Amino acid sequence: MERQQRLRRRRGTIGLLLFLLLLAGGRAGQVYLQSQPHGVRGPYLQMPAPDAITIRWQTAESIEGMVHYGTTMEQLDQKLEGPAGTLHELRLSGLKPDSRYFYRIDEQIHTFRTSPLPGSDRPIRLWIQGDPGYANPTAMAGRDAAMQWAATRPRGLLPAIDLWLTTGDNAYKSGKDEEFQQHLFDAYPRLLPTVPYIPLHGNHDARRNAFYNLFTFPTAAEAGGVASGSEHYFAVDYGQLHLIFLDSHDGDLGHDGEMLQWLKRDLATTKQRWIIALLHHPPYTRGSHNSDDDGDSRGRMRRVRENVLPLLEQAGVDLALFGHSHVYERSHLMACHYGDSSSFSEGMQLQRNDKGEYHKGLTRHPYDGTVYSVVGSSARVHSGPLDHPAMTVAKSVEGSLIVDIEAESLKAYFINSQGQVLDHYTIDKGAAPPYSAIAQCPGT
Ligand SMILES: [Fe+2]
Repeated sequence: MERQQRLRRRRGTIGLLLFLLLLAGGRAGQVYLQSQPHGVRGPYLQMPAPDAITIRWQTAESIEGMVHYGTTMEQLDQKLEGPAGTLHELRLSGLKPDSRYFYRIDEQIHTFRTSPLPGSDRPIRLWIQGDPGYANPTAMAGRDAAMQWAATRPRGLLPAIDLWLTTGDNAYKSGKDEEFQQHLFDAYPRLLPTVPYIPLHGNHDARRNAFYNLFTFPTAAEAGGVASGSEHYFAVDYGQLHLIFLDSHDGDLGHDGEMLQWLKRDLATTKQRWIIALLHHPPYTRGSHNSDDDGDSRGRMRRVRENVLPLLEQAGVDLALFGHSHVYERSHLMACHYGDSSSFSEGMQLQRNDKGEYHKGLTRHPYDGTVYSVVGSSARVHSGPLDHPAMTVAKSVEGSLIVDIEAESLKAYFINSQGQVLDHYTIDKGAAPPYSAIAQCPGT
């Protein structure tokens, strides 16, 4: 009798295990399928460089991918062919820097401009969307307002914007392939074929694997900087600007992890005048997330603050942009604040300037001040206490950011869906700063 009961119990346990295995297998299969590229889309531009650019697109039928291209619309005299399939990815190479090209795929002609050479002094305009992963009326009006704003401030023969970046969470809720279709590919048909798009990986993107299936990132220094060997962290040079992208969700935020070891090497190597870093998780925020709460986002905001910020500041990074918290926040020029908000002191602000006019020396120095800004409200606006002491501007408003860089001046404009500039600041490296400051952080 006892033996029969034991057998029944064992059978029950095996049945439960089998059921859980099937469930897990089914779920894994679903995650896999939802991460695979489907449908017709593109073209879209990846990995911009002075001499090359990657074009990706998808077709319904399996065909040989083919791009005809040239420097005038009438003379697309060069051709690149790829293998047969529905997913196409071709890297045009041997291009001239800072030059306009036209290309034809499937009878449609589009245009792009190659990156200027590293160090070359020509105006740069970035468009940065924060957590844009819903193609809702807010995001669409914000897109139109930012493009209108840029178009009415032309830069000679240069395109309205040079690069299109995000601070992560690009396709809600789960970063499924079909969500990228809805919230990105269907929503930005005019920009995608023309402006190189470099999205940052956010926690919502990380629920599926579509993000890293859909985008091509420069792991071998194809766009400048030090080769990272990882899609999770890399650099892009564009004229005199050095951009750094760090995946704060899946990248290792540990001191000795490969991501921050690479960051140190890259920062020590770059000679670019301007450095902007992008991470999804903000070190300082009191919006829809709270950087003081170590249980919020599993401590990632604390680790960014403690482990990443000292490296950025040591290298004199000018601007660091974040998302995740669906608000807009912007700090004074500051350094050395690596604790929670209670440890903030005014001495960490190298230059308080309520007009947002910051100055740094022409030569980069360790701890010569960084501006921190949360840009997380391009699609959804949330609120919060908005009282982090490091922030001088904190608003529960929708918008996206345009950054104009010209020689020794950086100008940033946070633009809402009506085209109003809700925040504006400048970082000027043209003259000696009107303060004596390079901060001396404790322990440095
Ligand atoms: Fe997020």
